[in-house]
Amino acid sequence: MVISIVPVSVRIVGCYPPEVVGEMAATPVPCDLADFARNRITFQSSWSHPMPITDGHELISPHAYAEHGPPHDLWTRLRVESPVHYCEPEGFEPFWAITKHADICEISTQPERFISEPGITVLTDSQRQALDTSAFAAMRVIIQMDPPEHRAVRKVASPVFTPLAIRALDEEMERSARELVDGLAGSSGEGECDFATDVATAHPLRVLSHMLGVPREQEPDILRLTNQLFALDDPELQRKGDDRQQAIMELGLELYEMFDKIIQDRRAHPREDLASILANGTVDGEPLGMMETVGYYLIVFSAGHDTTKNALAGGMQAFLEHPDELHRLQAHPELVDRAVEEVVRWTSPVNYMKRTAVEDAVIGGQRISDGDCLVMFYGSANRDADEFEEPFRFRIDREKNRHLGFGIGEHFCLGANMARRSQRALWLELSRRLEWAESAGDPEQIHSSFVVGLKHLPMRYRIRPATL
Ligand code: HEM
Repeated sequence: MVISIVPVSVRIVGCYPPEVVGEMAATPVPCDLADFARNRITFQSSWSHPMPITDGHELISPHAYAEHGPPHDLWTRLRVESPVHYCEPEGFEPFWAITKHADICEISTQPERFISEPGITVLTDSQRQALDTSAFAAMRVIIQMDPPEHRAVRKVASPVFTPLAIRALDEEMERSARELVDGLAGSSGEGECDFATDVATAHPLRVLSHMLGVPREQEPDILRLTNQLFALDDPELQRKGDDRQQAIMELGLELYEMFDKIIQDRRAHPREDLASILANGTVDGEPLGMMETVGYYLIVFSAGHDTTKNALAGGMQAFLEHPDELHRLQAHPELVDRAVEEVVRWTSPVNYMKRTAVEDAVIGGQRISDGDCLVMFYGSANRDADEFEEPFRFRIDREKNRHLGFGIGEHFCLGANMARRSQRALWLELSRRLEWAESAGDPEQIHSSFVVGLKHLPMRYRIRPATL
């Protein structure tokens, strides 16, 4: 290994937290030339005026995603030049952006060293304040628990999400898909729709409501509340109210009250459904606490709905932009399971997850300190050329597809089987019946950098009747 001494000023702010930069300023530091080879040390303008590649704003600002979609060009550059990149965007907490597939696998599979409990999202200062004082602060959700508690609480619901258990929902999923496509077809078979709101939103909502015992008449309420939860920053979808803190508090309370009613009912009259299993769940022989039970409802509903919706809307957009892939699915419906995986890779609805280091560590050759936040960008990992052949090509017959769309390790998506089967049902129904489809206007992205995707996708089509 070659070690050289370089002037401190050439070590780049974008790669190091300020305290480290401060420390480095005091003395010349030995610098590993391999870092140069990997371009960890990066220059934009000149040797004497190094510039950070990004302060992280484009990576985390909900409005940047609304305007430009996921920052693929920047991620591509970061993966090559600074795969573990220090970010200090104004108004947000500082974090390390992790953009490589291998580094994310390393972090996610060590939940004792990189924990979820302090939070899984990067919040603005005002959101943090509002959430801390709302009903959400008291709700305890598995996605924000760490081992050993996490494993015990996850076991409460995991039997309901096994592949076999989810197969029992196939009929419901197929019915939902058929009814929605019938609705699009109308009497003439031709028409225009907003695929994001008319189909992608409705399908997972029906399946989840069925599973969680929410009566059909309450589905619009659930839809409104989960939209508000994931679109805290979207002017169209967010809960209205000039006082943002008050609006978030009211949202927490309304969700709590809705789930509490179902829980009380299922405790008094248990049935054979997920709602009853969660309401009557036990850990080590003790009933799950009320905040854990409500938290479970919240995570299943919120994690299950918006994510699947965004995969479906983004998947349809991908098929409109790559009609050959739609034709391929129509000719080879046996490719549907691979198509589902490719859609999840391509759309990466859960854009990132945050972890907090509880000890000093080295990730991707970069020193991380105890207490630092690591933001793992799944959207970036899913286009990593070291993992995927032709990562920027949407191809439904992709054979090797170890995407991180459902995460990996301790918190691997509990609902992955359900997400797969429900998408499968809709893609099969659509591919059988869609004669042609084309874009009918500009798609619109949600103002969110966490669960990302389209809120509107105007589309024109012709659909065959179900019987042909
Ligand atoms: C395309 C659809 C979906 C995507 C892309 C997705 C993605 C993810 C990801 C990336 C995680 C991992 C979080 C982490 O690393 O910390 C996760 C966790 C989770 N997901 Fe999903 N999800 C989807 C659908 C669903 C559905 C349908 C459900 C349930 C009905 C669900 C329930 C959960 C739960 C409960 C967790 C937390 C697991 C834990 O902490 O152990 N998800 N999901």
